[in-house]
Amino acid sequence: MTGDMSSELVFYVNGIKVVEENAEPETTLLQFLRQKLGLTGTKLGCGEGGCGACTVMVSRFDHYSKKICHFSVNACLAPLCSMHGMAVTTVEGIGSVKNGLHPVQERLAKSHGSQCGFCTPGIIMSMYTLLRNDPQPTIEHMEKAFEGNLCRCTGYRPILDGFRTFTKEYCAMGENCCKNKNGNNNLQLEDGVGTDLVKTKAFLPLDATQDPIFPPELQNSTKFDTDYLIYRGERVVWHRPTKLDELLDLKSTYPDARLVVGNTEIGVEMKFKNMKYPVMIAPTHIPELVDITHTDLGIRFGASVTLSRIDQELKEAIAKYSEPKTRVFTAVIEMLRWFAGYQIRNVAAVAGNIITASPISDLNPLFLACGAVLEVQSKESGRRQITMDEKFFLGYRKTALTSTEVVINILLPFTSKNEYFGGYKQAYRREDDIATVNSGIYVVFEDNSNVIKKLSLAYGGMAITTIMPTRTMAAVVGRKWDDSLVMDICRLLADDLPLQPGSPGGMVEYRRTLTISFFFKFYLSVQMQLQSMHLSKTKVPSYLHSATAPFHRDPSKSTQIYQEVASGQREEDPVGRPINHLSAMKQATGEAVYIDDMPKFQNELYMGFVMSKKAYANIKSVDASEALSMPGVVDYISHVDVPGKNTWGAALPDDEEIFATTQVLCEGQIIGGIVAETQIQAQRAAKCVKVEYEELKPIITIKEAIEAGSFFGSPQKISCGDVEAALQQADHVIEGECHVGGQEHFYLETQAVIAIPKGEDGEMEMFISTQNPTESQHVTAEALNVPANRIVVRVKRIGGGFGGKETRSVMISTPVAIAANKLGRPVRVMLDRDEDMLMTGTRHPFYAKYKIGFMDGGKITALEINIYNNAGMSQDLSWAVMHRAMFHSDNAYKIPNLSTTGHVCRTNISSNTAFRGFGGPQGMMVVEQCITDVAYTLGVSPIKVRELNLYQEGDRTHYGQLLEHCTVQRCWDECLNQSDYFRRKKEVDIFNSENRWKKRGITIVPTKFGIAYTALFLNQAGALVHIYMDGSVLLTHAGVEMGQGLHTKMIQVASRALRIPASKIHTSEVGTNTVPNTSPTAASCGSDLNGMAVINACKTLLERLEPIMLENPKGTWEDWIKSAYINRISLSATGFYKTPGIGYDFNTGKGRPFNYFTSGVACSEVEIDCLTGDHQVLRTDIVMDVGVSLNPAIDIGQIEGGFTQGYGLMMMEQQKISPKGILYTRGPGNYKIPGFGDIPVQFNVTLLKGSVNEKAVYSSKAIGEPPLFLSSSVFFAAKDAIASARADAGHHGNFILPSPATPERVRMACEDQFTDLFPKAKEGTFTPWFVEL
Ligand SMILES: Cc1cc2nc3c(=O)[nH]c(=O)nc-3n(C[C@H](O)[C@H](O)[C@H](O)COP(=O)(O)OP(=O)(O)OC[C@H]3O[C@@H](n4cnc5c(N)ncnc54)[C@H](O)[C@@H]3O)c2cc1C
Ligand code: FES
Ligand code: FES
Repeated sequence: MTGDMSSELVFYVNGIKVVEENAEPETTLLQFLRQKLGLTGTKLGCGEGGCGACTVMVSRFDHYSKKICHFSVNACLAPLCSMHGMAVTTVEGIGSVKNGLHPVQERLAKSHGSQCGFCTPGIIMSMYTLLRNDPQPTIEHMEKAFEGNLCRCTGYRPILDGFRTFTKEYCAMGENCCKNKNGNNNLQLEDGVGTDLVKTKAFLPLDATQDPIFPPELQNSTKFDTDYLIYRGERVVWHRPTKLDELLDLKSTYPDARLVVGNTEIGVEMKFKNMKYPVMIAPTHIPELVDITHTDLGIRFGASVTLSRIDQELKEAIAKYSEPKTRVFTAVIEMLRWFAGYQIRNVAAVAGNIITASPISDLNPLFLACGAVLEVQSKESGRRQITMDEKFFLGYRKTALTSTEVVINILLPFTSKNEYFGGYKQAYRREDDIATVNSGIYVVFEDNSNVIKKLSLAYGGMAITTIMPTRTMAAVVGRKWDDSLVMDICRLLADDLPLQPGSPGGMVEYRRTLTISFFFKFYLSVQMQLQSMHLSKTKVPSYLHSATAPFHRDPSKSTQIYQEVASGQREEDPVGRPINHLSAMKQATGEAVYIDDMPKFQNELYMGFVMSKKAYANIKSVDASEALSMPGVVDYISHVDVPGKNTWGAALPDDEEIFATTQVLCEGQIIGGIVAETQIQAQRAAKCVKVEYEELKPIITIKEAIEAGSFFGSPQKISCGDVEAALQQADHVIEGECHVGGQEHFYLETQAVIAIPKGEDGEMEMFISTQNPTESQHVTAEALNVPANRIVVRVKRIGGGFGGKETRSVMISTPVAIAANKLGRPVRVMLDRDEDMLMTGTRHPFYAKYKIGFMDGGKITALEINIYNNAGMSQDLSWAVMHRAMFHSDNAYKIPNLSTTGHVCRTNISSNTAFRGFGGPQGMMVVEQCITDVAYTLGVSPIKVRELNLYQEGDRTHYGQLLEHCTVQRCWDECLNQSDYFRRKKEVDIFNSENRWKKRGITIVPTKFGIAYTALFLNQAGALVHIYMDGSVLLTHAGVEMGQGLHTKMIQVASRALRIPASKIHTSEVGTNTVPNTSPTAASCGSDLNGMAVINACKTLLERLEPIMLENPKGTWEDWIKSAYINRISLSATGFYKTPGIGYDFNTGKGRPFNYFTSGVACSEVEIDCLTGDHQVLRTDIVMDVGVSLNPAIDIGQIEGGFTQGYGLMMMEQQKISPKGILYTRGPGNYKIPGFGDIPVQFNVTLLKGSVNEKAVYSSKAIGEPPLFLSSSVFFAAKDAIASARADAGHHGNFILPSPATPERVRMACEDQFTDLFPKAKEGTFTPWFVEL
């Protein structure tokens, strides 16, 4: 041993020394920070390194380079034990509201970059770390820093805009920076129009001297690096040897021990696959394993060198060595560009990637193709070299290493001028995603020729290991690199890389096509290089060149245009001004409190759910005996413990059971729960409850439900005109179908609840992350058999909801209340991400069949739609969602004869529920598809068909509502103009004629969204306003703050209504004890309903105060309040509002369902890669009518956030579920929501000027949901691009593109000679791996 043996863990957190005597090896840094140190600013969003909410900065002193290194880390994966000798900085360590914000926190908050705020601390810490390493990064560098962070609310634009002020480019451009960032070339600004949502001049300067210093103790002593550490936990022992011999000894004694460097594989295995590793060895401080040496053959990297370090070294090597030498390095760097995010690459080691032997490892295909050489060693057999080739991977997650061998290093070879190398990867999302297929391709030519001497191909994603198609490789040796090779290789590869239909992972034809597409790209790029050296006569035509270019994204640009407040508006009247979200500062410092940030209550317990593992089954028995004997376990709770009703329903009584009794109807349904002292204990024990099932045949998809006649209720219809007659009279009639996939809410804060029994009169206090406190209150009361007045539900803020916490939060909160009631102790739950995704349902998948009648000119005269949604195991809100889809199946078009019939399918998946748009987007998607069908059939532009059919003022919808103040046409015209559509369309056509494998599409899509709950009774709200003696106002209303800025807007409204500054008004929380019988905060109605209720309450107060004000007209607000109090005037008032004049009766087909409409139009331009299906949104312009905006910053935030969420629905987010109803997509690892790099490169939003709306608060309009559908402009632009690719391949006319248009669907729709090699297997001849819901 070089150092002493120690079992003491020493590290620093925010400058304070932490000494942990008995460090638990299974504890993560995040658990320690939150639970032990109470530093709850760092959030848990997923626990698997996929969302970045837990990002912290870790710093260490490198005694070799004598430098302090700072790196961002996912605290949810970082083992506590790996922190010895490190300094951890959390969001609390850099600034606070009390002591002053750090510039990073301030700029994000002031740039409107925080909505619900749950992602914010993680994003702050990624930026902070970047600035600690480089105080003035380039824009490109800055934008890349967030590859490992997700935000579900903001649409990312304001975050990037705020942080752009730190970049080199910003400073170089001085004052003009923000103004000139204008991404809208066609912009002509009128008077009274604002473009500055942020006052950047007022930003605090970044002053590096203010940053906390690195703890001198860690810098001065080497013992932190040299001590042999051993930590003994409950189930695991952690060793950190510091010499190779020690490591080999350990591995010899414990062959099954795992080596832990980044823990990015092992951490996930332990958490999600329940793997137990009793001995863990950290080889992070063994000199041979962290060494980097340059040799004659290449660069040798120690096995524990991190991927970030490799990236840096290879970049330096490329600068140092001549080009031909570094071709492998270039490919590795390009691959690392798409390998996870910084947080993972900063800790993950190269050997971890190799030895995990994942079939989709990104590095292994490169290492196999280039023949990288490993040095491995064991105590028994000493050191040997292994060349990575087709013999290296022996089977699923098995390598050629023996159980006692460890990897010492890997040699990445130099290349010479006749060697070429390429690396390729395609994933759902470019950034931070695992590969669908990836590849390393290496070719060596005979000297000075184009004759192949050696070809190495290695593929990931095509088998249970990374594989090499050796027959193909051998068959082409001696061949010339010319066009005849391509189709031969394609055929050889097709044989060499077979995948049976239904293979795990699905997408069989796509994956097989990708193997060829990658080779074709490589072929072209090598051919171009050979040509430039006169070694090949084959000329690559210029229209093929773009196929070879690596992905490039320009820095993001944007504009936000809004109407400024009238010049005469009082200075202190905040309505209409872009003021900040009132919690933004606290969210940026981590001080904002969410449910699981609340300190533990005395005696508190945790509940781990026992969930069904089957989609449909009778429960034969439940045995909790083993679980009950486990440490810390207090009780097993099930339906027998429910004192009242064990059923509940969002729309129907008794729609579903709280705890399943005799039968389970979907995977993830709650059967019971284990209550224990800690979360770990409860979750571990819950997994040990044995449930015996008698399986029944489930119904999973809409088509299966239709076949089996499995529906909730009978079909319902809305119609106008005479569809049948109109179809007969139409020039053309076509039929089609449309499929819109589901969408996981992916709010960053998962469902959470704390239930606290009060011990008196059946009282219970509940803190719930819910959009619907009243529903939670009532269901709890019924379950506990107490009146509702005993249950108080309190909500301060929630970390995103998007509809997912409108009713489904009840299924979590009620069992927790039942447990708390039985045990008389507080009980907490915050679902793990995988539990949340499994249990709580999604946006409804929709399927529609339609018949369109239209005239030669493109006028649509008739439309008949049958529309189905997949409700899941209970009805929940599915009919209301269906109604909205039916109401929106006209979108923004006047179709004189339209009938839409809705069917709600009952299936055995978890119950689908509300999600921003609430069926509207799905309904609109059907008619938009009809538009493109008409256009493709007639061979005209879809824009023409849209324009021709657009609603005009005075038209009536298919449900008979008159369109008043209809601004669809105005938005359309303005969007055409601002986007410069016609000029750019010509450019797109030119681009498409000049490029065969990259295509562009540009299109423009309108939306018209009806505002009101379609359930009439929900259109009501209450407010409670207290004025205290000092003049301060406590405002409470019925709406939940979930990031949408509702509390901020309500304070703006109250400020105007009371004529006092907003600073005098505060909103603390929403509670069922302050405003009763609240509607859920949903349907975009939060501001409309609550705003009016607030105004009404304020009016009452002002009326009471009026005599006092008149008596003392020069008095201050405080004077009046004091005197009102003395005069015994009540300073508390309630306000109530119900939307007048609305209501629709489905039985009579009469009425007015909506109060008004919010309209908008978007133009998007998209570029697709026809060979891989990859795409990039080049530009989006949105013009939106929000009336007179209450707060343009918040409204634009809703537009950008809604658009980005919709973009996920349209292009990326694909739920995968097996034919038996088992969900595969359970976390950010395999379910991708849009990331920073997915937003339009140029993103311009304009609020329509001069629009008024007498139907809502101060002439404003609702905005939460309406913009979401505008993202379909991306989908239809991609469809246009595909149409161009198809035309090049000789396919004309209509084609089906389901949504989301994932890379698979885009690629396979671009039919060509490569896809033709892999025809789709016939349905019914195989069992698919996943099904279309
Ligand atoms: C959010 C996220 C994103 C990811 N994205 C990608 C991606 O894009 N592409 C990709 O390929 N992978 C990805 N991964 C997988 C993972 O990050 C990589 O495989 C990483 O390289 C593993 O390194 P590690 O140091 O964290 O491994 P660890 O988890 O610490 O160890 C992994 C395995 O390697 C073994 N091992 C480690 N060192 C040695 C050694 N010297 N000798 C023998 N065995 C050893 C361990 O015993 C263990 O079995 C991702 C993971 C996460 C969590
Ligand atoms: S919580 Fe750590 S990355 Fe999501
Ligand atoms: S603000 Fe980013 S997830 Fe809500």
